[in-house]
Amino acid sequence: MISFPSPWHVFVYLLLLDPGASALDKYIAAVYEHSVVLAKPTPKPVSSEEALKLMNKNMDVLEEAIKLAAKQGAHIIVTPEDSIYGFRFTRETLYPYLENIPDPQVDWIPCTDPKRFGPAPVQERLSCLARHNSIYLVANMGDKKPCNHTDAKCPSDGHYQYNTNIVMDSNGKLVARYHKFNLFMSEHQFDSPPEPELVTFNTTFGKFGLFTCFDILFHDPAVTLVRKLQVDTILFPTAWMNVLPHLTAVEFHSAWAMGMRVNVLASNTHRPSLSMTGSGIYAPDGSRAYHYDAESEKGHLLVAELDSHPSLSPTHPAPVNWSSYATTIKPVPKDGDFTGLIFFDEYTFSELAKEAGNLTVCQGALCCHLSYKMTEKQENEVYVLGAFDGLHEVEGNYYLQICTLLKCASADQQTCGQPVTTAHTRFDFFSLSGTFSTNYVFPEVLLSGVQLAPGEFQVLSDGQLVTHNGTSKPVLTVTLWGRWYEKDPPHPYILSGVP
Ligand SMILES: *[C@@H]1O[C@H](CO)[C@@H](O)[C@H](O)[C@H]1NC(C)=O
Ligand SMILES: *[C@@H]1O[C@H](CO)[C@@H](O)[C@H](O)[C@H]1NC(C)=O
Ligand SMILES: *[C@@H]1O[C@H](CO)[C@@H](O)[C@H](O)[C@H]1NC(C)=O
Ligand SMILES: *[C@@H]1O[C@H](CO)[C@@H](O)[C@H](O)[C@H]1NC(C)=O
Ligand SMILES: *[C@@H]1O[C@H](CO)[C@@H](O)[C@H](O)[C@H]1NC(C)=O
Repeated sequence: MISFPSPWHVFVYLLLLDPGASALDKYIAAVYEHSVVLAKPTPKPVSSEEALKLMNKNMDVLEEAIKLAAKQGAHIIVTPEDSIYGFRFTRETLYPYLENIPDPQVDWIPCTDPKRFGPAPVQERLSCLARHNSIYLVANMGDKKPCNHTDAKCPSDGHYQYNTNIVMDSNGKLVARYHKFNLFMSEHQFDSPPEPELVTFNTTFGKFGLFTCFDILFHDPAVTLVRKLQVDTILFPTAWMNVLPHLTAVEFHSAWAMGMRVNVLASNTHRPSLSMTGSGIYAPDGSRAYHYDAESEKGHLLVAELDSHPSLSPTHPAPVNWSSYATTIKPVPKDGDFTGLIFFDEYTFSELAKEAGNLTVCQGALCCHLSYKMTEKQENEVYVLGAFDGLHEVEGNYYLQICTLLKCASADQQTCGQPVTTAHTRFDFFSLSGTFSTNYVFPEVLLSGVQLAPGEFQVLSDGQLVTHNGTSKPVLTVTLWGRWYEKDPPHPYILSGVP
């Protein structure tokens, strides 16, 4: 017997067939670079009223940005690390700024039930901001958790203090809480959680994961969120101090998005006197919007559209084998290599002596190859090709393999690797590649004035970083920044068992 389904049946069938009927292919993201109002350093802790007063001053500014982003249709906004209370605290002076942040499983809307877990004025205000503006809000604040002698790692003051990202959904519900794992060297006011936390949440515009600042240099939780849990977008509050030539915020964070083939919403604190500036909305094929301002003291809002599921997009870059091309090249023997320091690491350099050519420089197991053609060689500017294969041991211990083309700070070879922000030399063509032992390589192109070059270069599936038509401005550096995670020493907190 043949029967025609009733309209009701069709409706139910469609619902079952497509439970994500309201899912969005694209969404609008916002990040805010906030010029944080700092507390006066005090030797003794302030009262909780005074702490809240300072935090409300910062939240007043964030509120304007959130409203503006919502007006422009943003589905989600990310605000920076430390942007509610600032920095330069001791463990004791930070305490009045902290709140108890519950596990999101409790299903809590602080805006409608603020006292449920004790005083939580910051979470209440953030929740109301998200709810009243119908926007997902990502913020960074401090969590406190009591502990006692039954826990051998419990600090002597009887509680843990965590540098914490939280997410309020568009109803104001707490949907994510992440405790920063890789604390920066000066963050003595915080404890590290015993294990890296893998925090994700789902929305109609993709799956999100979050971590904080220094975390981006390490395998966990950052790489695991992308490779194993397959998030579409990383939410990344940071208070990033720029280090030229390779670790400037916009340069490195956009390169990480490309290398990991994931969206990254990077929101930096704005404080040029501490080299903190540079935020962006980064897609796997390049930056959609970014902001770098080393001059003014002003905050800045960025809004741009992204694919909800970049891996399903027709423009999603193909997977890259980072050593495939370079292993086919036979280096031509030459003299004149020299060494120099970049961020305390000793590189092997070779000068680009001619206007065009092919050059190889090796260190350890890594050989870097460059083919290039300058538009015109400038007499007073020196460029080198550099290679580094080793353990970086300064503000952290992490193993690097790096191939880099860069402009030296002056015509003196001894200045190669020192920070420089402007250049006059243009390249019509370059192809940079290396015999990497890792498949985690982040491609950087930084132009004169510390500017990015979205759409002006490509990464080929054989591992070449190329421009065919040149870049819009002169070149500061073109770099393949590789991380060989397996060669990292054990994590210091896990190793010693002391947070
Ligand atoms: C302190 O230890 C007791 C057991 O001795 C335990 O019942 C209690 O939950 C602990 N408190 C905290 C805050 O961990
Ligand atoms: C998100 O959705 C996917 C399938 O759509 C599901 O497998 C996953 O468990 C969900 N994750 C969370 C955190 O809800
Ligand atoms: C990458 O290419 C090299 C050289 O062609 C090959 O030896 C290696 O197995 C490839 N790596 C991966 C992960 O496919
Ligand atoms: C560089 O090498 C390529 C092929 O590998 C060759 O076609 C080109 O002529 C070389 N360029 C120079 C300037 O030697
Ligand atoms: C380079 O420019 C030419 C002409 O303007 C254009 O046809 C070509 O697609 C460009 N190539 C790339 C890789 O952008």
